[in-house]
Amino acid sequence: MKQELRIGLLGFGAMGKTHAFCVNNLRYYYSDLPFRAAIRGVCTTSEEKSRRVAEKFDIPVACTDEDVLLHDPEVDIVDICTPNRYHYETIKKALAAGKHVYCEKPLCVTASQAREVAELAKASGKICTVVFNNRHLAPVMRAAELIREGRIGRILSFSAEYLHNSCTDVLRPAGWKQNRDICGGGVLFDLGSHVIDLIYFLCGEFEAVYGMPQIGYPRRKGMKGEEWETNADEGFHMLCRLKSGAMGSITVSKLIHGANDDLSFAVYGEKGSLKFSLMQPNFLYFYDATEKPSALGGNCGYQAIECVGRYPAPGGSFPAPKAPSGWIRGHVESMYQFLNSVYLEKQAAPDFADGAHVQLVMEAAYLSAEQRGEIHLSQLAAPREEKP
Ligand SMILES: NC(=O)c1ccc[n+]([C@@H]2O[C@H](COP(=O)([O-])OP(=O)(O)OC[C@H]3O[C@@H](n4cnc5c(N)ncnc54)[C@H](O)[C@@H]3O)[C@@H](O)[C@H]2O)c1
Repeated sequence: MKQELRIGLLGFGAMGKTHAFCVNNLRYYYSDLPFRAAIRGVCTTSEEKSRRVAEKFDIPVACTDEDVLLHDPEVDIVDICTPNRYHYETIKKALAAGKHVYCEKPLCVTASQAREVAELAKASGKICTVVFNNRHLAPVMRAAELIREGRIGRILSFSAEYLHNSCTDVLRPAGWKQNRDICGGGVLFDLGSHVIDLIYFLCGEFEAVYGMPQIGYPRRKGMKGEEWETNADEGFHMLCRLKSGAMGSITVSKLIHGANDDLSFAVYGEKGSLKFSLMQPNFLYFYDATEKPSALGGNCGYQAIECVGRYPAPGGSFPAPKAPSGWIRGHVESMYQFLNSVYLEKQAAPDFADGAHVQLVMEAAYLSAEQRGEIHLSQLAAPREEKP
């Protein structure tokens, strides 16, 4: 077993950066990892960007030709974070070069390409995965566990949605994900692949689908700001039947005002129901239909299971299992605000005077308990100065 795993990272947009962050921070999240991982090289389409990224994140190799990393004997794993239409050729080359492959979704842009690379991967014996990261959210893992344990019984139906607002502004130039020539499809590929995978993961294989694509704005600004005819679905609505007989609907759309990263699903079984929303990522909602209804509701109703950050070992000890999703982000912002203040040589907030006020309140509260009466803060010290 290799203890040093080195990664050749292809693409450093939103996902390249995300993957690099994950590799660099694994050691904080998982105790006593038996392996070490590092980014060996980064490849983007711009020489200047590759160099800048490599310098900033201490990556030894920077290039614009993926073959440099695909043929680097120091690279064990090829991590593909490029636009969809490039995945197929890169996977084939990476497997031929004897690398393991970590590939962003969707795997390819046609089913025959995907079947071919799946066969090649199997024959190669290399470890390959497609990044359907939502499977690894704690509430999704818990949902899978409850389903496996039979807690909701035979699955009868489901519904799932993934909504964004990124196509609501017709004046905003289209990105490559809105261009079928690069994305290979539209929102069905971009958001739909995640949702289809979740239903497949939780409920089983699909048998038949009925799909309806939607283009909300047939003309919009193109990638270079030119007048452009939209060629990829901006919304997609699907009715689905699974091999098990379960039926449901999937809606994915980037035409939704008010949406952020609104992924949600509900699975309904003979014995209960499950619901999850990525915008409320700490909880899985479980309805146990074996609870008997009684006066005043008894114990009936959805239970909010606090999955939070309770990952199984060796994860789950950092951040603390009870720390809600997003908690660590507040710490990162706090550190940034402070370091930036030091850099700018201006006072940071909250300052020590703020800390002292909180201290005073706590002291007054203890004193109040001791004396069994109200304590006015002015009894303890001068009130804090008003800030300008
Ligand atoms: N799992 C998720 O949550 C998630 C989220 C967003 C995107 N994705 C997927 O990740 C992949 C990348 O998406 P993104 O949002 O990071 O895109 P992006 O546009 O932000 O970044 C793409 C990167 O690829 C580089 N690139 C383009 N063509 C290349 C080539 N031929 N060789 C090497 N580099 C090339 C670009 O320079 C850029 O650095 C896509 O397949 C997308 O579907 C997954």
